[in-house]
Amino acid sequence: MIPDSFKRDLLNRVDIVDIIQRHLQLKKAGANYSACCPFHNEKSPSFTVSPSKQFYHCFGCGAHGDAIGFLMEYSGLGYIEAIKELAAGAGMTMPEFEPRFGKTKEEVGPDLYDIMQRATQYYREQLKGSARAIEYLKRRGLSGQIAAQFGIGYAPDGWQNLQAVFPDYGDKSLKDTGLVIENDAGKRYDRFRDRIMFPIINQRGFVVGFGGRIIDAGEPKYLNSPETPLFEKGRELYGLPQARQAIRDAGRVLVVEGYMDVGALAQHGVGYAVATLGTATTPVHVQKLLRQADEIVFSFDGDAAGRKAAWHALEVSLPATLDNKTIRFLFLPEGEDPDSYVRTQGKAAFEELAGRAEPLSAYLLTQLRARVDTNTAEGRSRLLHEAKPLVMNITSAPALQLQLLKRVAELAGMTQTEIEQQWDLRRTKAFASAW
Ligand code: UTP
Ligand code: MN
Repeated sequence: MIPDSFKRDLLNRVDIVDIIQRHLQLKKAGANYSACCPFHNEKSPSFTVSPSKQFYHCFGCGAHGDAIGFLMEYSGLGYIEAIKELAAGAGMTMPEFEPRFGKTKEEVGPDLYDIMQRATQYYREQLKGSARAIEYLKRRGLSGQIAAQFGIGYAPDGWQNLQAVFPDYGDKSLKDTGLVIENDAGKRYDRFRDRIMFPIINQRGFVVGFGGRIIDAGEPKYLNSPETPLFEKGRELYGLPQARQAIRDAGRVLVVEGYMDVGALAQHGVGYAVATLGTATTPVHVQKLLRQADEIVFSFDGDAAGRKAAWHALEVSLPATLDNKTIRFLFLPEGEDPDSYVRTQGKAAFEELAGRAEPLSAYLLTQLRARVDTNTAEGRSRLLHEAKPLVMNITSAPALQLQLLKRVAELAGMTQTEIEQQWDLRRTKAFASAW
């Protein structure tokens, strides 16, 4: 491991204000600096940086840490990578160190992380002993290597198996992690029983939640950790830490819907996929991903639910997208998901399809046109009416906004100036900066 003394020297040498300033516009506020928090969506700044303590803290979402933590969370770097980057900037030479699997107590920090880590280990060991669970994963085409890479485990049947790992089964923190449920009578039991366990790992490498899949048919198919102090669904993406390097190599991140999709894609050599956790895409997801790749490809099932989810992803992407980024939408043939597609058609066919995914601009325009009859004045007016909030929301990509505006003008049979006047556009900030 990297010696503590090196880490301390490094943190003494760098200035967190400097580091953060490279990425965010900080404003002096008394002894500290402030900005709108990059880790959640907000309009007024609750993110502060303290030069004296060399810490950042967000009063809105609780994000907190030192310069290393900031780089990990903001740029999606691993612990070692973040230290390397800081050291390079500070002109310090990295010491020789032994990489080690797993985390030291000091890195894991607070109890809840520690509990999640121990539970993960337990589930992984249980998988080795369950022929049925192993058989299931094999049947789904996952190798032991992929299972290990994703830390996949098995929660055996039974009500209080976790007591074996946590003798103090009544401890409050166990309930706080969501691993244990307490009923009205005060009786406690394991949330996950007889399920394949998918640990959800955050950008700092800590397990913050689980998804548990039932082995045979049954409801619910997937049981997920509840929201806890560690885990907020709308902020996390399944598979992100495992995909990080592949995302960088490909310059692209693929967003899919399911745990199994991520696993199957990785199994077939498409390592840059992540999944939303049974929730709609959020602005935080998009921001996080855009910081790590120049291209996001959202993949959706070709059914009505998939189309609805895609449109929602488009809406949350508009304010986040930038002129040097590309966001695209991939619709799989009806009845297919990335897992089934890549398994039957293979990597090349899947990537060929992903390569032809529709760019955000094209998807937006086709959808708008499909909704109205542009042969009538009413239809064209309606097109304008529907286009306005969408185009106006592209607040950080002025060139893209302008091009869409021109296309909308054409479709509506009006001039660009007429629309700008109608929409009062020249006064908005993004527009002003485009010229
Ligand atoms: P799907 O129902 O599309 O399942 O759910 P899937 O990913 O294809 O699963 P397999 O292939 O049958 O194993 C997509 C995602 O929605 C969430 C999970 O995150 C799942 O991966 N989900 C689904 C739940 O959270 N709960 C459920 O009961 C079902
Ligand atoms: Mn599936």
